[in-house]
Amino acid sequence: MSQQPDVDEESGFYREAGIEIRHSNVAEHYGDWDTPTTIVSDGAYGTGLFPNEPDETEDIPGWYEPHIRAWSEHATPQTTLWFWNTELGWAEVHPLLKEHGWTYRGCNIWNKGMGHIAGNSNTNRMRKFPQVTEVCVQYVRDAEFTGLNGESMDMQEWVISEWDRSGLTRQDANVACGVADAAFRKYLTKGNLWYYPPPERLEAMAEYANEHGDPEGKPYFAPDGENPIDAEDWSRYRSKFDLDAGMTNVWEEGQVNGSERVVDGTKAKHINQKPLRLMRRIINATTDRGDVVWEPFGGLCTGAVAAKQLGRECRAAEIVEQFYESAVERLEDTEQYAQLDDVPADEQADLGVFDDP
Ligand SMILES: C[S@@+](CC[C@H](N)C(=O)[O-])C[C@H]1O[C@@H](n2cnc3c(N)ncnc32)[C@H](O)[C@@H]1O
Repeated sequence: MSQQPDVDEESGFYREAGIEIRHSNVAEHYGDWDTPTTIVSDGAYGTGLFPNEPDETEDIPGWYEPHIRAWSEHATPQTTLWFWNTELGWAEVHPLLKEHGWTYRGCNIWNKGMGHIAGNSNTNRMRKFPQVTEVCVQYVRDAEFTGLNGESMDMQEWVISEWDRSGLTRQDANVACGVADAAFRKYLTKGNLWYYPPPERLEAMAEYANEHGDPEGKPYFAPDGENPIDAEDWSRYRSKFDLDAGMTNVWEEGQVNGSERVVDGTKAKHINQKPLRLMRRIINATTDRGDVVWEPFGGLCTGAVAAKQLGRECRAAEIVEQFYESAVERLEDTEQYAQLDDVPADEQADLGVFDDP
């Protein structure tokens, strides 16, 4: 890294190598931030631990509402939202996310293991199994298309309706894609067995329909009514997701400990510090190098550290001064950026990818 980070104590921001952290209320910054490819939300749990955090889990939807509204305004169909919370907190907020157009993809369970209760739980008094989990729930935004009569369609409906409009047979789709029967069977089927056409296949179908389809209805596969879509444009209509095989939605990972834990003397600085390994996992799966990650409720900004380790940009905010300061120290600590054992070398940060701020 060639230059000193830009840290301004007065107005409270840190900016270096594509990473920006604001010491202020995130609500003031959504409008200025670049479009997010991933939003990592780790905000109120209903424990009253930071300023304005409700004391009760049932009150957290009202706390999240303005934030969810802002995320929905700035997200695109490429954006993934990761919503961290307790199981109950997520249950409370899920209807609100749905109402604002977020589609549930999967619930991941962070299992902190027996070490989290360390033999301390009085199950007879609690009258339940000890809780050692949190959830990290994945949401996306479905793309919407408009039919010729102004009707709203989802992606599956649009692909089928554009192909049918061209007057070509379903078998012709196999010819367009150069396959025996996969195109017809996968991309033009109604119901649950439908597959998203990969970008090169959709481009091939669009080209074929515009070349061989009924001249009356042209252009086909043109979301703007004029220009047929190509592979690159098509890939922007879906959230990014790339994950190696061999991983499930149960994430076995102890509470943050050892040198990763940020401490104040012997006490943890922030009780909610998330494991870097898990933050890297979600960011790596849903962004590419250079993409922008939002971390609206930074705490110690574990998401920003992970983003920097992976060569992603990040926009983060933290309202409490001492947390913000610790986050900046973490970002400045170059030892964080040594070789990582859980991420392939070519996925790790090449901090030179960023222009100077
Ligand atoms: C659950 S903690 C995040 C912990 C973080 N993921 C980590 O690994 O350190 C939530 C943080 O959001 C901060 N916060 C709450 N409301 C905020 C707001 N409106 N703007 C910025 N930060 C906020 C709180 O002070 C708290 O530190």
